Amino acid sequence: MMDFFKDNASPAPDSWERLERDCAGCMNCALGRTRQNLVFGVGDRGADVMFIGEGPGEQEDLQGEPFVGPAGKLLDTMLQIIDLDRTQVYIANIVKCRPPRNRDPLPDEQAACIGWLERQIALVEPKILVFLGRIAAQVFIKPDFRISREHGQWFDVSGRRAMAIYHPSALLRDPSKRPETFVDLKTLRQEIDRLYD
Ligand code: URA
Repeated sequence: MMDFFKDNASPAPDSWERLERDCAGCMNCALGRTRQNLVFGVGDRGADVMFIGEGPGEQEDLQGEPFVGPAGKLLDTMLQIIDLDRTQVYIANIVKCRPPRNRDPLPDEQAACIGWLERQIALVEPKILVFLGRIAAQVFIKPDFRISREHGQWFDVSGRRAMAIYHPSALLRDPSKRPETFVDLKTLRQEIDRLYD
C-alpha cells in the first residue's frame, strides 16, 4: 500500500538548490571538457525581467559569471540607461560553457544545455524576457528570427512578454546600431513601468 502511494506521488517541485546541484559538473556536451568554469547565471532570482545571452566568453569562463567581459560592461551601461542594474534582473545564457574561440554554440550543444535555462526561467518566473542577439531569439521566438528586422518588437513566449535586442558584442563591433538599441531599451522600460501601474 505504501509503495502504491509512493509511486504515484507527484515529483517534488524544483528548487534552486536542486537545479544548481544537477547542473554543477554537467557533461551533457563536449563544451564541458574545455571549460574553466560553468557559468550558471546571476542576479535577482525573483526578477521581473530576465536577460538571456548566447554563451560565456573568455572572461565569463574564467570568472564563472555571465557578461563580465567587454560585452558585459556595455550591458551594464544599457541597463543603466533604463535605471536598472544587474542586481535587479536575472542574467543567463543559452549555453553554460564557453564555446572554443567564442564560436556560436552548435545546435546539439544548445539542445544539450537548454533544459537548465528552462528550469531557471520556471524558477525566476519573469514577466519579461529579453534576448540578447539572434541566437537566443531564434531558440525562443522562432528559428528564422531576423534580428536586424525584428529587434525591439514584442512577442509572446509561453505567456511572457518577450523582445530581442542587438547583442552587446554586436554593438561593440558596429556602434551604428546603438541608436536603434536605445529606442528598444526605452520600449522595454515602458513595458516595465506598465507592470507597476
Ligand atoms: N556573451 C554572451 O552571450 N554571454 C556572456 O555571458 C558573455 C558574452
